[in-house]
Amino acid sequence: MKGKLITFEGIDGSGKTTIVNILGKMIENSVITYEPTNTWLGKSVKKAMDEGKDAMTIALLFLADRNEHIKEIKKWLDEGKIVLCDRYIDSTIAYQIEHLKKRIKNPERWIKNIHEPFLLKPDLTFLFVLPVNVAIKRIGNRKKTIFEKKEFLERVQENYIKIAENEKDRFVIVDANKSKEDVANECYKKIKRL
Ligand code: TMP
Repeated sequence: MKGKLITFEGIDGSGKTTIVNILGKMIENSVITYEPTNTWLGKSVKKAMDEGKDAMTIALLFLADRNEHIKEIKKWLDEGKIVLCDRYIDSTIAYQIEHLKKRIKNPERWIKNIHEPFLLKPDLTFLFVLPVNVAIKRIGNRKKTIFEKKEFLERVQENYIKIAENEKDRFVIVDANKSKEDVANECYKKIKRL
């Protein structure tokens, strides 16, 4: 595949979406995409979350949405595009580990096993890290998901940091408390190098 898959990860309110939109304008030949997607599959994940469905149901819907999304991503990569993806597999690991832990024994292994036949590994992943209080403030009054509670997001951010520490080659940890211009420039430089 000629293109590159670059993913953006972090807790809700970490500013990923703003930065992805800035980078999309800065980088020629880029495509912006995100998960959950805006297809009926992605919308069904959001519906399941709004309706408080079982954690396993929600996890399986995220994975179904990703399986279809990857087919789309592969097409863009074959066309040589720089795919900027707002949330991807690391969101599932960081969030669903917390959500599934009372339900199954080793949620991380379960998630990785299901992904095994279809996952496309990102070339580079930015992890946006910031104090959870700042993230909560940024979320403000916008409609909250079931995950947007301080203690939950604290654990999710810890999970993210552990994932990044185990895969130092793929991850760049970004201080998301900086101005959006600084964060965007830092990401841009790393992408250029790639
Ligand atoms: P969004 O606010 O970025 O659209 O994401 C919706 C929520 O879904 C957010 O709280 C993160 C969560 N999420 C997961 O729990 N697992 C996943 O695999 C993805 C992609 C998102």
